[in-house]
Amino acid sequence: MGKIIDGRQIATELRGRIREEAIQLRSLGIIPTLAVVIVGDNKASLSYVNSKHKACLENEIHSVKVELAKEISQEELEKSIDALNKDNSVNGILVQLPLPKHINEDRILEKIYVEKDVDGFHPINVGRLSVGNADLIPCTPLGIMDLIKSTNEEISGKKALVIGRSNIVGKPVANLLLAENATVTIAHSRTDNLHKEVKEADIIVSCAGVAHLLDETYDFKETALVIDVGNNYKDDKLVGDIDFDLVKDKVSYISPVPGGVGPMTITELMHNTIVACKKQNNL
Ligand code: GUN
Repeated sequence: MGKIIDGRQIATELRGRIREEAIQLRSLGIIPTLAVVIVGDNKASLSYVNSKHKACLENEIHSVKVELAKEISQEELEKSIDALNKDNSVNGILVQLPLPKHINEDRILEKIYVEKDVDGFHPINVGRLSVGNADLIPCTPLGIMDLIKSTNEEISGKKALVIGRSNIVGKPVANLLLAENATVTIAHSRTDNLHKEVKEADIIVSCAGVAHLLDETYDFKETALVIDVGNNYKDDKLVGDIDFDLVKDKVSYISPVPGGVGPMTITELMHNTIVACKKQNNL
């Protein structure tokens, strides 16, 4: 059976270090602060935002929740963001996505000051990641890389397959793997022969958002390291892109769902808040 990459344990260890850094900053009179903006009452978004808020409180990071009505205009939302941009007590700003349909999401993400963009979604931070000198890297990709690195397996020279090409996960994680000198393939819904790509890969990151996409019909390298970013529901149960029970014995390492990538994302958000806070204070 493959070794299980325990995201809960890795996240707990990382949170311990983040909390120590936050306490250290507080001892210098600096209070690391994250502002989370939520528009409307989407249940899943409210739940994510509450989890982020709770995690910050547990780790000595001050958290400000900005709750706005779903009817808010583009202009009013931009004004709220600008107020947070100009507020020196706020180090990080996160606008929970998705936004209501009448809001231009790209313009909102571009409005956030680059140095406060703890999601790493601003085009300048996206560009910095692609040239390899980003400070603020999207949270889920950062968490995926920490899971891969926790195994101490070599990344350099390995064939990495990323399944999914989203701006939030697929593209940034491909860039991070490339920066670690992997040979990276990005597969997606139009990929011709996914079975062949999977069979040849040393590292697989699946972020397709399709429940049990990789099932018993797929062959893997025995040495494969598999990270499942899926967050899908099947028969009311949270499942990944990978059929864990059918795949776990065919590979060397696998991250489960739940308990793999999930716990890492909020942890990396706090990490980014500390990074932004230190940078803004020239530390
Ligand atoms: N909605 C779902 N995932 C995310 C994320 O990583 N950041 C933000 N801002 N919104 C999201």
